[in-house]
Parts: sequence; C-alpha cells; structure tokens
Amino acid sequence: MKVRILGSAAGGGLPQWNCACTGCTAARRSGSHRTQDGVAVTGDGIAWYLVNASPDIRTQLLAAGDVEPGPGPRDTPIRGVLLTTAEIDHTAGLLSLREANRLTLYGTGTVLGALQTSLPVIPVLRRYTDLRLHELPIGEPLSLDGGLTVRTAVVGAKRPRYADHGTGDDWVCALRITDDRTGRVFVYASCLPEWTDAFDDFLKGSDAALLDGTFLTGDEMARETGLTRTPREMGHMPIVEALPALRRHRGVRVLFGHLNNTNPAASAGADAPAEMAADGQTIEW
Ligand code: MLT
Ligand code: MN
Ligand code: ZN
Repeated sequence: MKVRILGSAAGGGLPQWNCACTGCTAARRSGSHRTQDGVAVTGDGIAWYLVNASPDIRTQLLAAGDVEPGPGPRDTPIRGVLLTTAEIDHTAGLLSLREANRLTLYGTGTVLGALQTSLPVIPVLRRYTDLRLHELPIGEPLSLDGGLTVRTAVVGAKRPRYADHGTGDDWVCALRITDDRTGRVFVYASCLPEWTDAFDDFLKGSDAALLDGTFLTGDEMARETGLTRTPREMGHMPIVEALPALRRHRGVRVLFGHLNNTNPAASAGADAPAEMAADGQTIEW
C-alpha cells in the first residue's frame, strides 16, 4: 500500500490568503507553503483513490507523478474520491475534477445529501461527467479496486456551516483502509473531535495513520486570532490531548495533518512533539 499526502493544511491552507498571524506571515516570507488536507492511496500502484478533494486538488495532482493520466488520452488511475466530510476544504476540489469521463464519489448518506442540496456539487457535476455515487456503509467493509478494503467509522456530527439540517448526523468520518494482499492498514482521521473507545479500537493494529493535527494545544487559536471557540467546539481535538492515547498504539506510524495556520508545529523547522505530515510526502509499506 502506498499513501501520498496531497495536502497537509486545514481549510484555508498555510499561509491563508487573508491571515497575518505569526505562522502565515512566516510561511509567506519563507515560501514554505502547505496545501489543504487530502491524500491519495493505492494497493497495487495502478488503481488510486483520493481521500477528499481540496480546493488545491489540481496543483496537488500535478505534483504527484504517481497519478499521471494515460495510457489512453483520457485515462486516469484515479478510480474515485472518498469523502470523509462535506466541508468546503474537502469537497470544493470536486468541481475541478469535472473533466473526468467518469467520476465516482463515496461518502455517507449525510455527506452525499449535503452535496445534493445545500452545496449542490453533485447536480452540477452531473452536467459535466458520468457521476457515480456510492454510500459508505458505516462499520461494514467495502471493496475497492487494486485490492483495498475500506471501513468507515463516524467520529463526529459537526455540520458544515453552509449546510441545512435534515440529511442525518453522519457528518465526520474516519477511514480504515486495508491492503487485502499484505494485510497492511492505513487509518485516516483528519477531523477528530474526541478520542473515544470506539476510535481507539478503530486505530488498533493499523500500520500508519493520518490524524487530526489542526491544533497543537487548546489555546493557540485564542492567542493568535482572539477567537474564543475551543478546538473541541470546532471539531478538532488538539495534538497534546491525543498523545497520551497514542502511547497505547506504539506500533502505528502516526502523522498529524490538517494543520491549522495557528498551529506552531505547522511552521517550517518548528519543534513538534510528533511527526507532522508534509505535502508530497509518500509512505509505502
Ligand atoms: C473544519 O475542518 O473544521 C472545517 O473545514 C472548517 C472550515 O474550513 O470551514
Ligand atoms: Mn477542514
Ligand atoms: Zn494565519
């Protein structure tokens, strides 16, 4: 199995266009940028799946040699997009995939429902491409091309600000992707509001994981921007609170992604208490 980190920043990226915080200013000066959260994963090196489609998807795909089109003029190794939330930073890039001959989207009924109505990406895309939709079954295995199997867990109920009520509560998911051939497991949970026993079980025995690194601590957002909402209210538990739980999972290579611009560990060369994901980083095992 191979996982490519397409983007390692939270919504807005690093630097964010209108932000003069310490992290954004430093990133602007140094030119060390992070694009918005998403990964690409493959079992056989031929069939690839995107996990989320950020507004930066075009740049991310151009930088990823593994997913180059061919051999036919419009062939692409990308077999589908697995959506873990319906947030704008995970879905706006779908519009940039409209040139595909065929596009297959996977998401919970809640997430796909929001993309039919409040943020009508699905009806728009239907006018451009042969769009296929698959509901992600919660807790059940779903087979993907290239010998991958994905299991979905609902980890949060935070509704995107744009979305209406009414399509269910399965807003925020984690994915456990297994390579059927090698038995290797990758867990993706870039939005994790709290560490539950259920999530502990979900992570158990995996080989690598991309976890929620939006915030390093509980108060950096307030210090940097004056905003008083806590990380938990924003649906992202801070890294320092996840670290004690990770002592139970020493065999898992953990990378923190979805790094917010106020996270001091997101800056180039910063001290970090764990491995921070980097754009373009590939892990293979
Ligand atoms: C989040 O991860 O909490 C959302 O993407 C926030 C946002 O970008 O609006
Ligand atoms: Mn986000
Ligand atoms: Zn900033």
